[in-house]
Amino acid sequence: MNIILLGPPGAGKGTQAEELAKKLGVAKLSTGDMLRAAVKEGTELGKKAQDIMTRGELVPDDIMVRMICERIQQPDCDDGFILDGFPRTVSQAESLDEMLQAEGQKIDHVVALEVDEDALIERISGRFACAKCGAGYHEKFKQPKVPGKCDVCGAEEFIRRKDDSADTVRTRLKAYNDQTAPLFPYYQDKGALKTVDGMAGIDEVQNQIMAIVH
Ligand code: AP5
Repeated sequence: MNIILLGPPGAGKGTQAEELAKKLGVAKLSTGDMLRAAVKEGTELGKKAQDIMTRGELVPDDIMVRMICERIQQPDCDDGFILDGFPRTVSQAESLDEMLQAEGQKIDHVVALEVDEDALIERISGRFACAKCGAGYHEKFKQPKVPGKCDVCGAEEFIRRKDDSADTVRTRLKAYNDQTAPLFPYYQDKGALKTVDGMAGIDEVQNQIMAIVH
């Protein structure tokens, strides 16, 4: 099963993709995570993407399409995948359709998370992650079970994303409204788009998505 999670920055795509991938036994493909890994490793791609991401703008389509095309060919995607953060432009969506068609595959569900802008800012400004394994948390909505200790790996150091600053978040929201929102009519026309109430709690959002994909 191949699923796309759509939604603005901070809507909860990564949070939901992580759990869904485990429940459905499919791969989670987060382009944001892939780019951050490339930046950390200092690869050519990472060097190209770093400043663009820090500004909150979108990395060029050709780079992103190549990255996802290579990733989808890997064996852990044989039983399907959940895309978190891709596609983000109509051009990326068209390339994805072509890519999948060539493999005899398709997107089965496009699920959009609807969240008010004020809540997005609150979610982004309270977000942090384990410095060792990357597990995501929130100061108010998803604290580690033992304060100061990662639930997954037990590490005690946490980090915040550089692009979560107030200025960059504004640019990211603008990029979403200008470049990603046109994906709604794109997938609506294909009859693939379903929306869920992303303002609900994390478990409730998960239940809504599971009801759609089952
Ligand atoms: P990316 O990493 O994809 O960032 P994003 O889309 O801005 O999304 P976020 O990761 O900020 O939010 P999310 O929706 O995953 O929310 P989360 O689950 O963390 O991209 C970063 C950058 O990379 C882009 O700006 C761009 O430069 C580049 N890029 C990536 N893909 C690209 C592409 N395809 N093309 C071009 N450029 C690309 O949740 C947020 C917080 O809220 C968490 O703390 C969480 O615990 C909490 N939370 C989640 N759900 C709930 C809930 N229901 N209730 C309360 N709290 C919740």
